[in-house]
Amino acid sequence: MLASLHQEAFENNGEVWDERSLKELLVLPGVTAWVALRESKPAGFLMVRTVLDESEVLTVAVRPSLQRKGVGRALFNHFFSHIKPDVSFVYLEVSIVNSSATKFYESCNFQEIGRRPGYYSDGTEAVVMRYSLL
Ligand SMILES: CC(C)(COP(=O)(O)OP(=O)(O)OC[C@H]1O[C@@H](n2cnc3c(N)ncnc32)[C@H](O)[C@@H]1OP(=O)(O)O)[C@@H](O)C(=O)NCCC(=O)NCCS
Repeated sequence: MLASLHQEAFENNGEVWDERSLKELLVLPGVTAWVALRESKPAGFLMVRTVLDESEVLTVAVRPSLQRKGVGRALFNHFFSHIKPDVSFVYLEVSIVNSSATKFYESCNFQEIGRRPGYYSDGTEAVVMRYSLL
């Protein structure tokens, strides 16, 4: 179910993860996922990995028909309110061509801290962003 949501959300925004990839990530140590429901159906989900004092956003996806209605923000607010007290920073990478996601992350108070040229399999550059809890 989450794989189909991911596919819908990422169809024009980068790499789609299939069910197997999502399952492999979910069993890794430190990985947590939250699912937002609308009318009892998954509207979006956020997957994060935490190691020691750092968290990394692995993916966030909201069903296209429900985007721009506060689902993504609600997922991040939930994550931030459940974050472990020893976490100082949250990191993520976003494709330079995905301007809507970049604006979304800026609205959640992430700031650009660098770039990774050729980070994605199609050669696209990634913007590295960080949220500070200090
Ligand atoms: C990025 C994504 C998770 C945002 O989720 P969302 O539920 O649509 O976002 P929200 O409605 O919570 O938006 C919160 C704020 O982010 C900003 N924002 C979100 N989408 C935006 C867009 N397309 N353009 C500009 N700003 C945007 C706005 O400031 C918005 O507040 P506002 O609607 O009051 O102006 C969602 O668009 C998505 O799944 N995109 C496809 C997958 C993807 O790109 N994931 C991230 C890859 S790293």
